[in-house]
Formats: sequence, structure tokens, C-alpha cells
Amino acid sequence: MRNVTKDNITDVFAAYFGEDTDPRTREVLVAMARHMHDFAREVNLTHDEWRKGLSMLEHAGRITTPERNEFVLFSDVLGMSSLVDMMHSNPDATSSSVLGPFHVSNPPRLEIGGDMKRDFEGKVLLVEGQVRDIEGNPIPNAELDIWQTAPNGLYSSQDEDQDIHSFHGLMNTDDTGHFKFTTVRPVEYTVPSDGPVGELLDAAGRHPWRPSHLHYIIKAPGFISLVTEVFPDDDPYLNQDTVFGVRDDLVMTYEDKPAGSFPEGLQLSGSVNEDYLYVKFDVTLAPSH
Ligand code: BEZ
Ligand code: FE
Repeated sequence: MRNVTKDNITDVFAAYFGEDTDPRTREVLVAMARHMHDFAREVNLTHDEWRKGLSMLEHAGRITTPERNEFVLFSDVLGMSSLVDMMHSNPDATSSSVLGPFHVSNPPRLEIGGDMKRDFEGKVLLVEGQVRDIEGNPIPNAELDIWQTAPNGLYSSQDEDQDIHSFHGLMNTDDTGHFKFTTVRPVEYTVPSDGPVGELLDAAGRHPWRPSHLHYIIKAPGFISLVTEVFPDDDPYLNQDTVFGVRDDLVMTYEDKPAGSFPEGLQLSGSVNEDYLYVKFDVTLAPSH
């Protein structure tokens, strides 16, 4: 096509594809171009505005490292990570939620009843639950990879004062699919906002806060691995998570329990004579076939 116009440019884009292009690749790329072209026409995008967008992407590229991926963060705060996730989740399984950048590899083993709190300050939180299939049968030996912030709102990878494995643990469910551990209540925190994502949030009059949460990756042979989070129902940011990660079935009550009622058989049980918090989180995994 020689005479490209603002009205035919999307068709011209599609016509330039090679004949043997993979059909799905063509479908995705043509739709992406169509939406981008429509977007530019709809808002009558100016040169300055388009350059600004490109310079934000360029900035994202400059600050992206293996530890900090600003493009994923863009995807998170624009709602794309959550949207793609929700479009492909099984409605009979526990909802999935964003992974975030703070998971560390090779977490230490956490036995059932083990403790992630260690010497950190704060009220003990006892977490327990069962991993089941969609028929309600327990899944023994499911693997739970668990991580959260320390009481100062920082993940271990953000904080030189923590060892890299603090508030991380790898647990397997018992023969009845149950898991149990102690920790402290995670706290709400801000996503990194010192880069172009922060600029976008500022421009939109948005804050960078996430409600407090416990992260899990749950795996079992024959089941779809689940990346998810658990939120307390009294968190001030529950209705305004900046990465759109909250789902109703992931919101739990953290119950206040009196001193003296702490169960036996936990790593911490000998040393706890204080009030503590308790949350139950049962998980349903979808079959992989
Ligand atoms: C997190 O929950 O760790 C997280 C998720 C998305 C972006 C940044 C952090
Ligand atoms: Fe997080």
C-alpha cells in the first residue's frame, strides 16, 4: 500500500504480514495494533504525549535488572497482570493473584508447625489450612512456598538488615493435606514508586500501597500450580490495592486469640504466653488435565 492514511493504517499493518505467519501471532499483533491506533485517534494523541510514553518505557528499560522489572510493575499497576490471570483461572479453584518481585529462590524448609517469626517483634500469627482438590479431597504432600514482609514493611530482598531467607519458607502438607506455621502479621507496604511507574501513579493521582498479605505458590503433581495471596479483612487498603490483587475468596479474618490457648505441637508453643492472631486459609487446586 502506497497511500497510507490515518484511517487505513491498521489494515495496511495487517496486510504487511507474511502469508505463512502463525495465525495466533497474527491475531494478537493485529488486534494490538488496532487498539493502539484506535487509542491514538480517540484521544488525538500529540507528539509530546507519545514521546512521553516512549521515554517512560525507555526509563523502565534503563532501571530494569534481574531483581527489579519495571515492565512487570507497569503490567501490575495497569491491571494487566490481574486481568490476564483472572481470564485463565478455574472458577472452582482458589483465586490466583499477583506474584510480585520479592519471591526468593531456594527458601528454607519449614516443617509443619514451624516458625517464620524467629526473633522479629510483633504479635504471633498462627496460620493453618488444608489443600484440597475441587471435589474436596485432601492433597497430601502439596508444596507451599510462603513469603511476606517483615514488620518494617520490607521484604528480605529489599532490606540489608534481614537475611535473604527471613519470612520465606517451603512447607509440604501432611497426609491429610494440612499445613500450619507461625509468623507475624504482614504489614501493608508500597510498591517501588521511585521510577516511571511511580510517575504514572502520581499522574493518575494514585497511591502505591498494597494491603498486607501473605504470598503463596502452591504446587502438587497433577494440579495447576497456584500463585496467590491472603489478605486480612480489616486492612485499610483492601479496596484500593494498587496492583488489583484482591479477590473475595482471598480475604480472611485474622481472629484475636487469648493467651493460654496457643496449641501444643508448634515450634513456638513452649514460648508463647501472650495473645496471638489466628487465620485459617484453605486452598483448592484445579486439576492440570
Ligand atoms: C508484591 O505483592 O510483592 C508485589 C506485587 C506486585 C508489585 C509489587 C509487589
Ligand atoms: Fe507482596
